Amino acid sequence: MLWKDEYELGVPVIDAQHKELFRRVESFLQVLRSKDRWEDKIPQINETLEFMKRYVVEHFRDEEEYQKSINYPGYKYHKQIHDDMVQYVQEVSKQYEQSSDNEDLMQQFGGRLLAWLINHVAAEDQLIADYAKKKGMSGNDR
Ligand SMILES: [Fe+2]
Ligand SMILES: [Fe+2]
Repeated sequence: MLWKDEYELGVPVIDAQHKELFRRVESFLQVLRSKDRWEDKIPQINETLEFMKRYVVEHFRDEEEYQKSINYPGYKYHKQIHDDMVQYVQEVSKQYEQSSDNEDLMQQFGGRLLAWLINHVAAEDQLIADYAKKKGMSGNDR
């Protein structure tokens, strides 16, 4: 499991969403790396893409709401990173739909998704928890 408990922000809804994102990205990578024929992987690839398009938006919205609720000063900067990621997922999805030879695109997407998720959750999202703690508003107490 790529998820680490140290990634927790102490905000149950957000932590659950992060765990779900890690779980889904991890199984997506397992599918991508498996020895099955590409054709056999397509249903799961499609499913993951649809999930990501929906769930990433939902998660970002909830996390941004939380940031606003604690007056997080890095909100605008953080939202821009989220918006860029949503755009990236949408672009990949569009490219995927428009082309029939998608294996390289999806391998690239899987790798970038994982790197982004780890970097973002372990660094940028942690700053929200640091701020909440400093202000005595630790997520656990909310
Ligand atoms: Fe997050
Ligand atoms: Fe975030």
